[in-house]
Amino acid sequence: MGNNPKNQDGIEQEPIVGEIPDDPLTGHAYDGIQEFDNPLPGWWKWMFIGSIMFAFPYAAFYHGGAEGRTATERYDKALAENIRLQFAEIGELKMDRATVVKFLYEPNWLRVGKSVFKTNCVSCHGADGGGLVGPNLTDDAYKNVKDIGDILNVLENGAAGGAMPAWKTRLSPNELVLAASYVASLRGTEAADGKPAEGRVIAPWPEAPPEEAPAADEAADETKEDASEDASEPTAEKAAT
Ligand code: HEC
Repeated sequence: MGNNPKNQDGIEQEPIVGEIPDDPLTGHAYDGIQEFDNPLPGWWKWMFIGSIMFAFPYAAFYHGGAEGRTATERYDKALAENIRLQFAEIGELKMDRATVVKFLYEPNWLRVGKSVFKTNCVSCHGADGGGLVGPNLTDDAYKNVKDIGDILNVLENGAAGGAMPAWKTRLSPNELVLAASYVASLRGTEAADGKPAEGRVIAPWPEAPPEEAPAADEAADETKEDASEDASEPTAEKAAT
């Protein structure tokens, strides 16, 4: 011993044993460890460079602020289109308490009400109805609502001098009714960070209306829909409890 080379700290290093590939060295040595010049494979480097180049047009296209390009916006558009098609199916709804109650027990249509809510109401009532500027819609206390029909009134005409805007002129009757049913359905759900209850606790919503026999063709339509939609089962369950 004693003949081994010393590193910069003066510590002896074992000589390198075994085969040394004859790749060219970079000339760098750290603590006696020499660095080979092994470049990354060409295909890897080109993929890397290619992905960087791809990123710029991609970011410009999707995040450049142009309308209707993000997945969310395209989804919203498709959804709106779909709602219009669906509305053709139910025709114009009556704007009354009975209709709000009826659709409270129709999960498929509540989804339409939900999309109206997501588009117009979350800014003040929170994504899950827990309340922001507007009150919490998930608890049992309401400020302007004593009966389920009042929800529709509040939606149509607003409340608190416009702090809750009137939607009569901005939403179609179907949107108003289904949004009202959806708001009613929020009652009793859990909202993350919900605001404390405001107003007075009111009686529970009415039970699902008994299966009435509507006009013959309408009834046929409905049974067809129930049979084809798998989500019709929860309706029956909810109605039964
Ligand atoms: C600009 C903010 C704002 C928007 C947007 C808004 N609301 Fe409101 N909303 C309020 C405020 C504020 C109140 C409470 C009014 C009061 O103090 O009497 C309220 C009250 C309500 C109430 C009555 C709650 C209660 O306790 O009496 C309902 C129901 C309601 N909003 C539903 C909706 C729906 C559905 C939408 C979407 C179509 C919507 N709001 C959009 C601000 C808003």
